[in-house]
Amino acid sequence: MAFARTCSVALVGVDGVIVEVQADLEPGVAAFTLVGLPDKALSEARDRVRAAVVNSGEAWPQRKLTVGLSPASVPKSGSGFDLAVACAVLAAAERLDPSSIADLLIIGELGLDGRVRPVRGVLPSVLAAADAGYQRVVVAEQTAAEASLVPGVTVIGVRSLRQLVAVLTGMPEPEEPPDPIGGRPDPLMAGLMLPTAGVRGLPDDKAARLDLADVAGQYEARRALEIAAAGGHHLYLKGPPGAGKTMLAERLPALLPPLTQKEALEVTAVHSVAGLLPAGRPLIDSPPYCAPHHSTTMPAIVGGGSGLPRPGAVSLAHRGVLFLDEAPEFPVRVLDALRQPLESGEVVIARSAGSLRLPARFLLCLAANPCPCGRHSRRGEGCECTPAMVGRYQGRLSGPLLDRVDLQVQVAPVTRAELMERDSTAESTETVAARVLAARERAAARLANTPWRTNAEVPGHELRTRWQLTPGALDDAARQLERGLLTARGLDRVLRVAWTVADLAGHDRPDQRDVRTALVLRTGVEQGMPLPEGSISRFGTPGRLGGGEPRTDQPGTAKRTQSRTRRSAAATASGAMADQPSEGEGEGDEA
Ligand SMILES: Nc1ncnc2c1ncn2[C@@H]1O[C@H](COP(=O)(O)OP(=O)(O)OP(=O)(O)O)[C@@H](O)[C@H]1O
Ligand SMILES: [Mg+2]
Repeated sequence: MAFARTCSVALVGVDGVIVEVQADLEPGVAAFTLVGLPDKALSEARDRVRAAVVNSGEAWPQRKLTVGLSPASVPKSGSGFDLAVACAVLAAAERLDPSSIADLLIIGELGLDGRVRPVRGVLPSVLAAADAGYQRVVVAEQTAAEASLVPGVTVIGVRSLRQLVAVLTGMPEPEEPPDPIGGRPDPLMAGLMLPTAGVRGLPDDKAARLDLADVAGQYEARRALEIAAAGGHHLYLKGPPGAGKTMLAERLPALLPPLTQKEALEVTAVHSVAGLLPAGRPLIDSPPYCAPHHSTTMPAIVGGGSGLPRPGAVSLAHRGVLFLDEAPEFPVRVLDALRQPLESGEVVIARSAGSLRLPARFLLCLAANPCPCGRHSRRGEGCECTPAMVGRYQGRLSGPLLDRVDLQVQVAPVTRAELMERDSTAESTETVAARVLAARERAAARLANTPWRTNAEVPGHELRTRWQLTPGALDDAARQLERGLLTARGLDRVLRVAWTVADLAGHDRPDQRDVRTALVLRTGVEQGMPLPEGSISRFGTPGRLGGGEPRTDQPGTAKRTQSRTRRSAAATASGAMADQPSEGEGEGDEA
């Protein structure tokens, strides 16, 4: 028999498509044709496979060889078909029994010496195989643990083609030293990836050491972090350099509820396709954190690149946190590109062969200094930016992006007293995360039988009509609406946050205090209202959430003497600015 077939998988985004690999040998002049929409890396499979077969001690059939990959309409990229092609050729040449590979699904790149190299996207590939009913898959030894995450599939991890041939023919397995390069797929070696420059996560060991208790002071910002995690609200931290914005953002993923098994597989699949699964940790089961630098390229943020498209930062942060530090420094088109994933939870990448979708449902955390030099809010400390520069800088983030950010918080510089008097009252990540989890469960129970799972997802109209607040709860917000301090859209966001505040407090529906807290966190506008009783110890300090006087209509007109009140005044000014950005508005707080 001069024909054999086996199967492999093509990746379309993070979805696998089963591809049949057929080899046909005909009498004639020795030639090797590969058909079925291969890309460049795959076309080179001919040379790799031939060298690998010969260097594994097998004879290369000197006949007319055609290898077809079907369905031919699915574009196929990369080197992951090598091993399947080699097995099909050896079976067509009767070196292997064709029936031994007919029900196998084979994924792996071949080195010229016959070694099997790992490739990207093994988890989604094996998930697709399991869905299609395959029970046995062959992968490179390094990706066997990842493939084994899929239930109901027997995984054969191999080091070389020689070893696989021995397994399939029932011969003694040859001694193979482990791959000297070892570890994970090396995407750059496979020529498939963009450089990862600028797309940073947190190393596992560092992430484990981060605790919210390390953050001194910053009661409002800590509270905002808790609410963001509980309701899935996007968050914008504004404040001078060194106030702890990055510190806070890095502690946000650990406050999110642990991933469910299904979510963990989704996240792992994305990281697998990116070739970024950490060695020795096949399953990512906690919310990821991705903090791209503002100089990062557009494809690195949204995904793309030549060959097998690579997930960008928005997808690497799927089910976790996307942190944009110095957000106004990001190119406007990058910020614009975030709108689609924020809206739909996925990003669409246009390719010549059609567009593909990658998951991108993340919690967005933005951080920004008050002005290009960062000193704007500190009175008299040498800010050299003109009002126009300050306005322009803050204006870069205005509009449709900020419309989706429910929480906008002023992060004041931490005071010496706060930094020095670090006592044990600052709550730990564990304590806050437990509250977040309870609040999420409350929201999930209320939102059962709706398409939404967190408060942040609920559309404003539904929020206003479907669930009732305590009578009178909205009075303050309504007053602000009438005075033009809040837009109708702003009111919806206040409502969303108020429900999360209520969920955290264990209230069945938001009361006036919950709405006030939401108002402060939405606009930075202070209400001069006491904290709810339970939250006094929660924040580690008695006092007021805003800590300042009732808001005056003209920011900065009140006389302020206390340093804390001064800082709050800056919050007032920039809170007003967030709703109605205009040049030079920040000047008010210096009065
Ligand atoms: N609230 C705080 N509690 C404890 N340490 C802090 C706090 N704020 C800042 N620090 C210290 O200052 C360092 C810098 O903080 P961080 O990088 O989070 O500031 P930032 O607001 O992100 O500044 P930038 O705007 O320059 O990015 C931290 O690593 C920490 O050592
Ligand atoms: Mg920072």
